[in-house]
Amino acid sequence: MTEPSTSGARASWDTEELPQGEEKVAAVQGMFDAIAPRYDRLNRIISFRLDVRWRKRAVRDLALPPGSLVLDLASGTGDLCIDLAAGGLRPISMDLSFGMLSADRSGVPRVQTDILRLPVPDASVDGATCGFALRNLVDLPTFFGELGRVVRAGGRIALLDVSVPTNRFVRWGNDIYFGKVVPRIGALLSDGAAYRYLPKSVAYLPTPEEMLASLADGGFSDATHTQLSGGLTQLLVATRDR
Ligand SMILES: C[S@@+](CC[C@H](N)C(=O)[O-])C[C@H]1O[C@@H](n2cnc3c(N)ncnc32)[C@H](O)[C@@H]1O
Repeated sequence: MTEPSTSGARASWDTEELPQGEEKVAAVQGMFDAIAPRYDRLNRIISFRLDVRWRKRAVRDLALPPGSLVLDLASGTGDLCIDLAAGGLRPISMDLSFGMLSADRSGVPRVQTDILRLPVPDASVDGATCGFALRNLVDLPTFFGELGRVVRAGGRIALLDVSVPTNRFVRWGNDIYFGKVVPRIGALLSDGAAYRYLPKSVAYLPTPEEMLASLADGGFSDATHTQLSGGLTQLLVATRDR
């Protein structure tokens, strides 16, 4: 299921069609508020439940001991928090969208905040996770810098997001599925516009090399990048420099 990778393909969409800056923040917040009630169901359907496996893999690779305090950033409905708590960790759920936080079923403490400005002191947590939200942020280097600020030396991070498969055949199938099929499923069961945005939003993501370099600048010089499920998803894991 996994393929270590240091390179990635570019998305077939252009970011010029997509909102930027404050316009993007407002669009993302409004979109997730709108789709929150049906978010989990759609996730399971469109990923054929692979999303469940990807989050479990992220928690496994986070590899922190029980009792560790972990921020789950852009936590959405709390799926990663549930897995973190099941692993004996102490998660705190943080998200921009009140709608998503209201749908959080994890039962862990919840905080409404923009994760580019974390409301926690320096070096105060053992780790952080972030699932499928990197492409929604307006400034990834700032986010990685915030991770470096709040995670203690020797602490760990695990970040998941969708990806562009490097294999041309898999990429072709993925483009058709996410470009044509998923928006129709979204329109039928949730919000068409939100699920049309999903494939386009991949264009916001820098290449793996760029993210690894940016993580190193943020204080995570051992960061690794792994493709999951043939490159449908990517996982970045790192230890905070001492
Ligand atoms: C695709 S959902 C992922 C939710 C969850 N992590 C998961 O694995 O299912 C993306 C989440 O990122 C949140 N988000 C986007 N930008 C954010 C920001 N700047 N600060 C905090 N949360 C943000 C959205 O509100 C949404 O809940």
